[in-house]
Amino acid sequence: MGIEIPEITLHDGLRIPAIGFGTYSLKGNEGANAIKSAIDLGYRLIDTAYNYENEGAVGEAIRRSTVPRKDLLITSKLPGRYHTYDKAVVTIQESLYRANLDYYDLYLIHWPNPQQDHYVEAWQALIDAKKWGLIRSIGVCNFLPEHLERLKKETGVLPSNNQIELHPFFNQEEQRKWHEENDIATESWSPLARANEVLKNDTLQKIAEQHNKSISQIILRWHYQLGAIAIPKSASPVRQLENISIFDFALDAAEIAEISGITRPDGRMRDQDPATYEEF
Ligand SMILES: NC(=O)c1ccc[n+]([C@@H]2O[C@H](COP(=O)([O-])OP(=O)(O)OC[C@H]3O[C@@H](n4cnc5c(N)ncnc54)[C@H](OP(=O)(O)O)[C@@H]3O)[C@@H](O)[C@H]2O)c1
Repeated sequence: MGIEIPEITLHDGLRIPAIGFGTYSLKGNEGANAIKSAIDLGYRLIDTAYNYENEGAVGEAIRRSTVPRKDLLITSKLPGRYHTYDKAVVTIQESLYRANLDYYDLYLIHWPNPQQDHYVEAWQALIDAKKWGLIRSIGVCNFLPEHLERLKKETGVLPSNNQIELHPFFNQEEQRKWHEENDIATESWSPLARANEVLKNDTLQKIAEQHNKSISQIILRWHYQLGAIAIPKSASPVRQLENISIFDFALDAAEIAEISGITRPDGRMRDQDPATYEEF
């Protein structure tokens, strides 16, 4: 029995763990073993995408694990090149075949690609796939408030969650506030900023020493206390366990503010502003 992770409830009623497991770059047999290890340690929310080319490895990890499918929450994502309605419907089915699953718990639009301007029909395909029982909860990634407003206006349905770049160098204060006001859960991608120089930051180092925890644990606890669902990726069982061992201590308000204060206006890891950046 692994670590028990608290849950949060999405606006459509689905309960999901407050921290999940990222799988970007975990592929093939080694990837399947790393994902199975994460499940064994207690991760229940697993994040994949059509474009990671590892929905198959996720499906294989589920089959290798002794945890029943119904106890896992599997997320995948629709790529930008399949946003038109008919292509989106086929891609969701293809995503399921690749993982050998009957349903995804969460399915997200990967990027809005606003210059292409097909994200509303992609969203309609997700709404319908949910009605057909292929997806339990529908969401998006990298949507700015203007994109979310448009979904609401044109379909009447807001996403249950929005997965965005979020780490101490880019704390997304305004976007998180918008989500809170509209009952959309925030998921944090690259929650450890891909282990860049944030893991050597002096402020974080000081707080880590005070709590006798690692900098990664301090960052992931900060996400949790912000109410954001972090999905750290690690190929290493030791670091996988480290990353969910964050429920036996708490940061105080001053520490949270100090960590949030590390943010920079240009803190994105790459220049991926969803208003202009597109991914296919
Ligand atoms: N929706 C989107 O547009 C989007 C974009 C990017 C990512 N994502 C999702 O978000 C997930 C997480 O983001 P990410 O993979 O980009 O970055 P991340 O989780 O912030 O960082 C992963 C990196 O940190 C290292 N690491 C993990 N735990 C560590 C620890 N305790 N101490 C030191 N180093 C540690 C990992 O190395 P080891 O593996 O060697 O431990 C890996 O190099 C992805 O896997 C993917 O599922 C979504």
